[in-house]
Amino acid sequence: MVVLSTVNERFIASLKQRRDKLAQLIEHPVILWSGNLIGRNFQANKLPFRASSHFLYFAGIPLINAVIRLEAGKLELFMDNPPPEATLWHGATPQSEEISAAIGADRVYPLAELAAKTAGAATIAVQDLSTYQQQSHLLNRPVALSNQAESIDLELAQALVQLRSRHDDLALHELRHAAAVSVKAHKAGMMATKHSTTEAEIRGAMEGTIIAQNMSCAYNSIVTVQGEVLHNESYDHQLQAGDLLLADVGAETPNGWAADITRTWPVSGKFSSSQKDIYQIVLQAHDDCIAKLRPGVEYQDIHFLAAKIIAEGLVDVGILQGDPEDLVAMDAHALFFPHGVGHLLGLDVHDMEDLGDVAGYEAGRERSDRFGLGYLRLNRPLQPQMLVTIEPGFYQVPAILNNSNFRSQYQNVVNWERLSQFDDIRGIRIEDDVLVTDSGAEVLTAALPTQIGEIEDLVLNH
Ligand code: GLY
Ligand code: MN
Ligand code: MN
Repeated sequence: MVVLSTVNERFIASLKQRRDKLAQLIEHPVILWSGNLIGRNFQANKLPFRASSHFLYFAGIPLINAVIRLEAGKLELFMDNPPPEATLWHGATPQSEEISAAIGADRVYPLAELAAKTAGAATIAVQDLSTYQQQSHLLNRPVALSNQAESIDLELAQALVQLRSRHDDLALHELRHAAAVSVKAHKAGMMATKHSTTEAEIRGAMEGTIIAQNMSCAYNSIVTVQGEVLHNESYDHQLQAGDLLLADVGAETPNGWAADITRTWPVSGKFSSSQKDIYQIVLQAHDDCIAKLRPGVEYQDIHFLAAKIIAEGLVDVGILQGDPEDLVAMDAHALFFPHGVGHLLGLDVHDMEDLGDVAGYEAGRERSDRFGLGYLRLNRPLQPQMLVTIEPGFYQVPAILNNSNFRSQYQNVVNWERLSQFDDIRGIRIEDDVLVTDSGAEVLTAALPTQIGEIEDLVLNH
């Protein structure tokens, strides 16, 4: 269902500004497909629709099975009106002329007329297969960034990264809204804990808060007492006093803009002393990394700062032994913090990850294969209006800690006996969304507490 309520003159002017900027970066026409509905278990029963993010960036709203052609700042919209009988099932929907006016298009055409206007156009592959096949068919060439022979698509990808990695006011308005609703969802999850007996109930409280604001989830929620499974998507465990619950849940606005927050709290409402020790280490890394964010700072240095603070903290509590800088140089921190410190955030939760490292990595930089660096998704100097996550963590992942190669490689730097005294911690992550400003940074999700006392209070007393 197309909702035109978010559309106004400022919205149209911002979309026009995006098109003008694109025109300065690329001479070729650009054609972007929104993608189509996909049957869930039979054709009439569909999966929730999500338009391609690149399409959304220029069209502003999620149109199903629509195409935009951008050239020299002009926007041509290609879409068909539903057949009259569709109103029986879906009600009256805005017609293409009305939609075209609402997004400030210069002209609207039926989809069939696109075929005559594809010559020399650059595009980006969409996720749904049937639309992807149409892209290749209509452009009469393979569409894939990995096929770098088609360099106009790579040129487009680079232009999109340049535009989309620094957010304009329209984007920031949406991103702040997603952040605010996600904060509410996390508070609802903390407050639901004392009345809940399963992970699923807490997930319900969190996602219910998002749905009640007419938003959806930006990614599959992680709400788990098994926080060491980094992308855990099952919710069937019972909650036990003594467990830590890790919740990574973020809202997406109806026009597609995301938030991405993680908090970890004790099911009982009280952290044990070992849980407090480790939580404080992760929080220190989180706070110190955020304090360092400003234009010009290398995001990879922020990752290494998190690694160093975690290594220092683990030395202080006796889990690691040695000099923290040496421990980071040998990737010993990655035994417990095996992922990157964060990523770009925008229309996608990992923004523009469909473009691979074209988005996350500065030109000329390649992803490292180091154990402690390979999962770093962002390696660029920060610029004003970039939105990034900061999400350090500590995990006890059996597949890492019981791996015989790691065991022998790190035999002398881990005190395994001391580690066993921290067996009530499976996974802790603290994740916030941070906007780089002209002179520093602003935490868009700062209204959600991170301090132990405040979290205990929310779980116990509300
Ligand atoms: N929610 C996925 C992530 O934090 O990267
Ligand atoms: Mn994240
Ligand atoms: Mn997350």
